[in-house]
Amino acid sequence: MSHHFINIDCYEKFVKDFHTLSGLDLNFYKENQMKRRINNFMNTHNHKDDYTSFLKALSRDPKLYDAFFKHLTINVTQFFRDVKLWDVFQSKIIPDLVQNKHMLKLWSAGCSAGQEAYTMAIIMNEHFPSAKYNISGSDIDINVLKQAQLGSYDERDFASTPEHILQKYFTLEDRRYQVKDNLKKNISFREHNLLTDSFEQGFDFIACRNVVIYFTDDAKDLLYKKFADSLNPGGILFTGSTEHLFGKNHLGLKPVSSFFYQKQ
Ligand SMILES: C[S@@+](CC[C@H](N)C(=O)[O-])C[C@H]1O[C@@H](n2cnc3c(N)ncnc32)[C@H](O)[C@@H]1O
Repeated sequence: MSHHFINIDCYEKFVKDFHTLSGLDLNFYKENQMKRRINNFMNTHNHKDDYTSFLKALSRDPKLYDAFFKHLTINVTQFFRDVKLWDVFQSKIIPDLVQNKHMLKLWSAGCSAGQEAYTMAIIMNEHFPSAKYNISGSDIDINVLKQAQLGSYDERDFASTPEHILQKYFTLEDRRYQVKDNLKKNISFREHNLLTDSFEQGFDFIACRNVVIYFTDDAKDLLYKKFADSLNPGGILFTGSTEHLFGKNHLGLKPVSSFFYQKQ
C-alpha cells in the first residue's frame, strides 16, 4: 500500500481556487477532516499529489466535479433516521406547536435528498391530519435537491421506516420507491448555503441534523445564532445526535428534550 502526501502549504490555495470554481468556501469546514476527504478522493481518482492539476481536472470534467462535490458534502441519510427522536417530535413537540399556531412553518436545513422533510410530512399527515403547515427543505447540493423534488428513493433509504408507512406513501416503480403526490403538496425544496446565504424568518421548527459535523466552531456558533434569530418565540431547533448546544445559553435556546431546543 502506498501513501500519498500532499504539500500542506498548497491547501490554502486549493481552498481559494475551489471557492472561485464552486462557490463553496472550505474555510468554514474543519481543515483536517476536509484534507483527509480531499486526499482520499484524489487518491481513488488517480490524482495523487497535485492540487493544481486536480483543480484543472475539476474545472474541465463536470462528472468528476459532481462526484467530488458529492464526496465533500456527504449526503448519507434515511427516512425516520433516529426513529425514537421522531417519536418525541410526534408526541411532545408538534402537539405544543399546533396548539399555539394556526399555520406551522417547518424547515429541514441540510435536507440531502429530502428524506427528513418527507419524514416530517408523513408524521404530520398521520398524526395531525387537520394541521396546516408547510415544510421547506434546503441543501447546498443541487443534485440531491433534484432527487428530493422527484421523490424517488432506493430500498436502503427505508431501513427505519415501518412497512405500512412505505405502503401508504410510496409506489414501487422500476425497483425505486416513488413518493405519492399528496405528500409533496406542502413541501418545497431550494438551494441554500447555510454558511453564507441569508435566512428566512418566522420558523416554528428547524431540523438541522448531521450537517455541522465538519464545520469549524466559529461557523457553528454563527449558524446557531442565525437559527435562533429565524425561529419564532416558542419555536424548536432539532439537532443531530452528536450535536449539543452546551454553553450556548446566550442564544436563548433552552433544551426541552434531548436534541430539541426551544427559543425563549
Ligand atoms: C449527512 S446529510 C444530513 C441529512 C439529514 N439532515 C440527516 O440528518 O439525515 C448532510 C447534508 O448537509 C449538506 N450541507 C453541507 N454543507 C452545507 C452547507 N454549507 N449549506 C447547506 N447544506 C450543507 C450536504 O450537502 C448534505 O446533503
